[in-house]
Amino acid sequence: MLKMCKSEDSVEEWEMKVKLLGNGKVEKLKNSMVSRSPMKLWMIRAITTVLLWTCVVQLMALGELWGPRLLKGWPSCFSHPPVELTSIPAKVILPPKRIYKNNGYLMVSCNGGLNQMRAAICDMVAIARYLNVTLIVPELDKTSFWNDPSEFQDIFDVDHFITSLRDEVRILKELPPRLKTRVEMGMFYSLPPVSWSNISYYVHQILPLVQKYKVLHLNKTDARLANNGLPVEIQKLRCRINFNALKFTSQIEELGRRVVRILREKGPFLVLHLRYEMDMLAFSGCAHGCNSDEEQELTRMRYAYPWWKEKVINSEMKRKEGLCPLTPEETALVLKALGIDRYVQIYIAAGEIYGGERRMKSLAAAFPNLVRKETLLEPSDLKFFQNHSSQMAALDYLVSLESDIFVPTYDGNMAKVVEGHRRFLGFKKTISLDRKLLVNLIDQYNDGSLTWDEFSSTVKEAHADRMGSPRTRVIVPDKPKEEDYFYANPHECLQLLDEPLRSTWT
Ligand SMILES: *[C@@H]1O[C@H](CO)[C@@H](O)[C@H](O)[C@H]1NC(C)=O
Ligand SMILES: *[C@@H]1O[C@H](CO)[C@@H](O)[C@H](O)[C@H]1NC(C)=O
Ligand SMILES: *[C@@H]1O[C@H](CO)[C@@H](O)[C@H](O)[C@H]1NC(C)=O
Ligand SMILES: *[C@@H]1O[C@H](CO)[C@@H](O)[C@H](O)[C@H]1NC(C)=O
Repeated sequence: MLKMCKSEDSVEEWEMKVKLLGNGKVEKLKNSMVSRSPMKLWMIRAITTVLLWTCVVQLMALGELWGPRLLKGWPSCFSHPPVELTSIPAKVILPPKRIYKNNGYLMVSCNGGLNQMRAAICDMVAIARYLNVTLIVPELDKTSFWNDPSEFQDIFDVDHFITSLRDEVRILKELPPRLKTRVEMGMFYSLPPVSWSNISYYVHQILPLVQKYKVLHLNKTDARLANNGLPVEIQKLRCRINFNALKFTSQIEELGRRVVRILREKGPFLVLHLRYEMDMLAFSGCAHGCNSDEEQELTRMRYAYPWWKEKVINSEMKRKEGLCPLTPEETALVLKALGIDRYVQIYIAAGEIYGGERRMKSLAAAFPNLVRKETLLEPSDLKFFQNHSSQMAALDYLVSLESDIFVPTYDGNMAKVVEGHRRFLGFKKTISLDRKLLVNLIDQYNDGSLTWDEFSSTVKEAHADRMGSPRTRVIVPDKPKEEDYFYANPHECLQLLDEPLRSTWT
């Protein structure tokens, strides 16, 4: 029994999941684990999981905190001294390493913000797996707008990442010395792979380059792998990496848990990913509701960044097409129209809102319980996260996963990746706003051609089936950008909650 308890991933992960899922959904979790490993091992894992769950659930019922004292007092499961417990992660029984003939080494430099990189890392691991190469731990973008100097291991648990995937692909923290020297001498090949490619592109175009140069560097990673048309094993592996191998560092997870605990003590909460930040507005050219000084500031900023290529933008036209993030004022109207309780806690998952308090006035008037990480935590708690926007984003990611409702005001990378992750956790409610429809309704309401009741009922009706419930991805052949994004709805890896329990590891 004791051995079984110890053989599971890590205590921390379990705790997180218990909290993530809440009581009623615990049973489903074991089925939502995605895996491609030999069946026997995973059957053992499954049995272990059930047993562990029994322990965990009862433990959680005993008390909220996961302290060693509590664990010690749980005879059937954790009868050893706490010292042993702290060493659990080191003793985890890992899947056996996959043995394969190594075709070479793949280095990757991710580009973009945290969530774009998260999806890219999943793609790159899956590609490395199917090319039978060795992957070097991905390098994160330090030069994007966010300018975050964090390395992979500052954000993700790198050892867990490497070991939990070892039955699929070999991942190293750095190149072996001999090859490192070669790379330092410039003897490697660097290229951006063609975006939205299928696996045959990687096998037929990329693999020969790896074999020729031994070390290949992919210097761009966003959306390099197609949403669709890939073998289901690859889709499932992308999920396994995303939902299982990529864990934030314990420091980030701990702070995330703290924020969630503070929120939960006061009841349910909604996370609003209010993407009304300066970079978003400058980049998109969306200036609805800004004064002329602000418009000029945003335009100057857009021209200053060479990689924001689209320079002349008609803000109002773009807004009418639904291509702008909702403003805080529009968001207030929409949340009210949707019937969101005025007194619910609304956690703003975002950086600084452009225009500050002035722009937040109507939202704060409609929903007085607005909070953010800075108001829930002490400045000292966030000290180490300051100037590390990706670590801040990771904290918001965790809180977003756990919220009762998640509402993004723009369909950026965070909105999409969080939506997909919430689907995986049991189709938790995510409201995908139909911005094109909404801005037109808002304009009609504001000019008096719609009454409040008409406005509200139209908004409700239009969103009745945009709540993150199960459906299949929209596929648009030859137009990958118009398709549903794989990570927003990885339906190959999800199972309907009312389906009879079936195992995903066979
Ligand atoms: C990768 O290795 C497997 C055996 O582990 C083999 O079946 C497959 O053909 C290899 N693929 C490539 C692209 O080398
Ligand atoms: C990636 O590599 C190619 C070829 O070496 C180069 O032309 C391109 O500028 C690089 N891109 C980035 C983003 O570094
Ligand atoms: C992969 O993409 C290429 C074009 O990039 C296409 O010709 C081929 O049919 C695709 N293969 C599969 C299996 O979808
Ligand atoms: C963060 O950066 C700002 C300016 O870039 C600097 O003034 C501040 O001291 C930095 N804070 C920390 C905690 O490093």
